[in-house]
Amino acid sequence: MWCRFPGHLMALLCLMMVLLGSCALSSSLDVPDPKPPRYNVSLDLPPKQRWEPVLKHYNTTNLREAFHSIIHDLVPKWVLDKIRPLAVRDLESVVREPYAGEIRGLSRGLGMCAADVLILNLAYEATAYCVGIIAQDENGNIYHGRNMDYHYRETLREITVDLNFVKDGQIAYTGTTFLGYVGLWTGQSPYKFTVSGNQRVHGDWWNSAVHAFLKKSSPVSWLTRDVLNDAEDYQSAKHQLSTTRIIAKVYYIMAGTMPREGVIITRDRKGFADIWPLDPLNGAWFRVETNYDHWTTPPPDDDRRTPANAAMNATGQANINLDTLYEVLSVNPVLNPTTLYTTVMSAAFPEKYTTRMRNQI
Ligand SMILES: *[C@@H]1O[C@H](CO)[C@@H](O)[C@H](O)[C@H]1NC(C)=O
Ligand SMILES: *[C@@H]1O[C@H](CO)[C@@H](O)[C@H](O)[C@H]1NC(C)=O
Ligand SMILES: *[C@@H]1O[C@H](CO)[C@@H](O)[C@H](O)[C@H]1NC(C)=O
Repeated sequence: MWCRFPGHLMALLCLMMVLLGSCALSSSLDVPDPKPPRYNVSLDLPPKQRWEPVLKHYNTTNLREAFHSIIHDLVPKWVLDKIRPLAVRDLESVVREPYAGEIRGLSRGLGMCAADVLILNLAYEATAYCVGIIAQDENGNIYHGRNMDYHYRETLREITVDLNFVKDGQIAYTGTTFLGYVGLWTGQSPYKFTVSGNQRVHGDWWNSAVHAFLKKSSPVSWLTRDVLNDAEDYQSAKHQLSTTRIIAKVYYIMAGTMPREGVIITRDRKGFADIWPLDPLNGAWFRVETNYDHWTTPPPDDDRRTPANAAMNATGQANINLDTLYEVLSVNPVLNPTTLYTTVMSAAFPEKYTTRMRNQI
């Protein structure tokens, strides 16, 4: 939206143009939101070397500064005091592979200490607000969309990437993440399933999460990546996402390739609290999850659920597809000033995986 961008002079010019009626709707309707860059990460390389080719596209001096300010702003001091000494001494004793090796490789490439790259990864875990929608059309095709909302958008928009994780020359899975972050909140295992995660914790995330992490529970976004890497099919992915111990409560949103394959898994740290599948035979052809348990009423000051439900109803099962799902994810306040990106995907059509950056300035 160029109207908002270049300072007072342009603002004045723009105001005049608005008054003249020629500046209306200059943004999303005509010019599609831009896609983030897409890179390959080779799983055939040792974990320490995998991120080097991606880092080459960036100015590491600037990255290092951005990462230190994220850590400074988001991470409580007691967490730094607790994690830094452990990870400096022996990262591999607190972090499993391939994540330990990847964090070591990133730390070398970025010129940061490995402990701080680990802490950066935990900082991203703490702050993801989102909307996830799964839907089935009248022909049994399954769609999945998500908005990623974040309160650190100015930095994160520069480092959001789509990644193809490549094994033996094939795309093993695709995901969207932030450079420096080894987990995934959004991903697709081609011809098998798609998965996204939404934060479920309100309040003090750090306390219980750090303790669970040190007892070897998995960060939420590492489990997502494990499942994309390991799971043979939709059912085993669903089982793994429902039962593996994780460091914080979360909603996992999953969709498969066959009719009725779609589910919202409400997670506690030890296991699932609730499983809420699509039920198209009884009219439930879509499900919406934001950051509140689906059986409760969202707080009035953060109700993105009701507008999303209304927009899905208005679209209708006959008309749902990845384009109309993107439109639903663009309705205010489903799309809001904190929305960083939107991804739409359908595991049966893996080449359609699309992420677009929102709220461009
Ligand atoms: C990276 O950015 C810094 C500061 O913005 C600049 O001084 C430096 O020359 C850049 N490095 C490269 C390799 O472009
Ligand atoms: C990424 O990997 C895929 C699968 O091996 C390959 O077809 C594609 O050319 C690669 N892209 C780049 C930019 O290397
Ligand atoms: C959407 O439609 C369903 C089924 O007709 C209805 O129960 C629900 O209240 C509607 N939701 C909104 C927000 O319009």
